[in-house]
This record gives sequence, C-alpha cells and structure tokens, in this order.
Amino acid sequence: MHIGIIGTGSMASALAQKLSNAGHTIMIGSRDAGRAKSLADMMGSAVQGGSIAQAADFGQAIILAVTWLGVDNALEEMGDLDGRVIIDITNPLDPDSYDLIPGMKTSAGEYVAQKSKHAQVVKAFNTVFAETILTGSNFDGAKAQVFYCTDEKAAKDVAVELIEDLGFEPLNCGELRNARYLEHMGAMIIKLGYPMGYGTEIAFRLMERE
Ligand SMILES: NC(=O)c1ccc[n+]([C@@H]2O[C@H](COP(=O)([O-])OP(=O)(O)OC[C@H]3O[C@@H](n4cnc5c(N)ncnc54)[C@H](OP(=O)(O)O)[C@@H]3O)[C@@H](O)[C@H]2O)c1
Repeated sequence: MHIGIIGTGSMASALAQKLSNAGHTIMIGSRDAGRAKSLADMMGSAVQGGSIAQAADFGQAIILAVTWLGVDNALEEMGDLDGRVIIDITNPLDPDSYDLIPGMKTSAGEYVAQKSKHAQVVKAFNTVFAETILTGSNFDGAKAQVFYCTDEKAAKDVAVELIEDLGFEPLNCGELRNARYLEHMGAMIIKLGYPMGYGTEIAFRLMERE
C-alpha cells in the first residue's frame, strides 16, 4: 500500500521503518521537506520524503503522526481529504506536563474527523510506544495489542491490515467516539512509562478467559 506519514518524529520514524520493512511504500511529509528527505534516506528505497501536501497526496492511507499542537496546521497543509483514510495516532497532550489538554469535550480523533470533513478517520497506535513498534509485539510469549476505533469500514480495514503487518494484534474498540477513552489510555501509559519508571518496554493487552 502507498502510505503517507505526516511528521518526522519518533512515531513517524518507527512506523515508516517498520511498514516499509513489511512491504509498503512510504512517503514521509514534513513542514521541512528536506528534513523528511534526510529521514527517508536512512530507510532504503521504499521510503521517500517530501512536503506534508506531497505525502498526503501520495498515501492511499495517511498516518497523522504530529504533536497535538501541530494538528491544525498539518490538516491544513494536507489539503483536500474528502474520502481519504486517516489514521490518527495523536494524543492531545500538554507538551510540558504530558497531561491531557484540560477542558477537551471530545477527543483528538473526533476533532480530526470533524476538521477533515469527509475523511475516514480511525484512531490507532496512540497507546503503543514508538520503541515497542521498533522492538516488536512479543512480550515473553504474549502479543501486544494495538487498540483502534472508527466509524468507517474502509478505515477499519486499513488499520487492521497495517497493525497485523507490524506483527501486532488489532483490538476493535468500537466507534470513533471511544477515542475519548483510548486517549486517556495513551496518557496513562506515558505516565507509567516515564514518571512512574516502568520504561517504554510495556504495552496493553486485554486479558480474556476462554
Ligand atoms: N512517541 C510515542 O511513543 C508515541 C506513542 C503513541 C502516540 N504518540 C503520539 O504521536 C504523535 C507523534 O509523537 P512523536 O513522539 O513522534 O512526536 P515528536 O517526536 O515530537 O514528533 C512530532 C512531529 O510533529 C510535527 N509537527 C510539530 N509541529 C507541527 C506543526 N505545527 N505542523 C505540522 N507538523 C508539526 C513535527 O514534524 P516536522 O517538524 O518535520 O514538520 C514532528 O516531527 C503525538 O501526537 C504523540 O502524542 C506518540
């Protein structure tokens, strides 16, 4: 699949590297196309770099991998998103405290869906550390899950395909509205990983009795 990845940070890098290893063709998009090209040059011929608009145009699916404060600008630079599949991985966090932005009445996922008008948005990957994407899904025999939610069948199919291609198990969390809860889980795992000292080699899995 052709995948546009917006952003050049930890998540964009990890996803570009691992999805290209899995056989996908990637264009990374940045506010600075040179930065995206330099990152892509480190990843082999299946990854190229360009502007945000170029990466959005390239992707059959677009992964939004920017900081919360960059979402508005990224969506604006992505251009016409009518009917496009967007995988929103953002956590709406205050960059200083890593707390969820106070007073938010919905979720980043719903906000992205509303701002991108008729795009098909799926929330996914926001509860998984970039380090885990790089090191893999196996935790002493148990497979880490990637929780996702969406209202759109096409977006669901893309998310499930990419999650499985990365070696993780997809966990359907229902409608996009449930991004409100997934984003709290994203904030919680960051608190566990950093201030509480568990580190980034941790992941969520729903335990189920047979
Ligand atoms: N790190 C993790 O383990 C992790 C896990 C799950 C979810 N997340 C979420 O995933 C998103 C990316 O996380 P990250 O750790 O990769 O962040 P990061 O390393 O800080 O990178 C964020 C990227 O956002 C882009 N950006 C910043 N301001 C922007 C703006 N005004 N317009 C457009 N792009 C802008 C930057 O790209 P350019 O400067 O190249 O344009 C930058 O590369 C965040 O929302 C985060 O909460 C992170």
